Amino acid sequence: DDPLELSDQILTWYDNHARALPWRISPKDRALGIQPDPYRIWLSEVMLQQTTVAAVKDYFHRFTQRWPTVQKLAAAEDGDVMGEWAGLGYYARARNLLKCARVVTDEYAGVFPTTHDSLLKLPGIGPYTAAAISSIAYDLPETVLDGNVERVMARLYNIDAPLPGSKPQLKILAAALTPNRRPGDYAQAVMDLGATICSPKSPACGICPWRDPCLARTAGTAQSLPQKTPK
Ligand code: ADE
Repeated sequence: DDPLELSDQILTWYDNHARALPWRISPKDRALGIQPDPYRIWLSEVMLQQTTVAAVKDYFHRFTQRWPTVQKLAAAEDGDVMGEWAGLGYYARARNLLKCARVVTDEYAGVFPTTHDSLLKLPGIGPYTAAAISSIAYDLPETVLDGNVERVMARLYNIDAPLPGSKPQLKILAAALTPNRRPGDYAQAVMDLGATICSPKSPACGICPWRDPCLARTAGTAQSLPQKTPK
């Protein structure tokens, strides 16, 4: 199928079904020109690594109440930040969070850089988080590839090859679909689709905006994808 038709289909679905999340600008508000705060996008994406949306919400609220800007966070005591992080796990994330806040404050005057390459150099920011910030916060057409997106691509194109070996191929497929129009909403739409409709165990193919083009649905293989190489 035509990539533009596919991205239009999921964007229309997102316009009607986007989840309301504390860090998210709704598609309506975005269309009015309201931009997300890169600090809040960065903080949420770091918290969401290895942690569910449900578990992150309260932590996100407390962090942003206590430290509403990256400069405020940069000025915090290490122990206070570790204390607020307690319970979220993967504590290296919190240490890198504070390091990153200090670099952005001291070297970028408190403004997160926009390009993938400059974001990648910041502490705790890997390819996923860099792409998420470029696309969601700055509306640049970077390709976001997380577990949700991998699953959606493996199904849409009925890719039988197992993860992690299939990752480069899934990335190429995901990149070919990333539109230049509304890339930030598109990135969030694919993640929402993966989190709600295209779920790991029982995908709701009947109500999916990609039910017609989805090759795994046609083949009857959606439930079994993506395959994984046993550890
Ligand atoms: N999971 C991680 N980041 C997300 C986002 N920006 N939207 C929806 N789900 C997510």
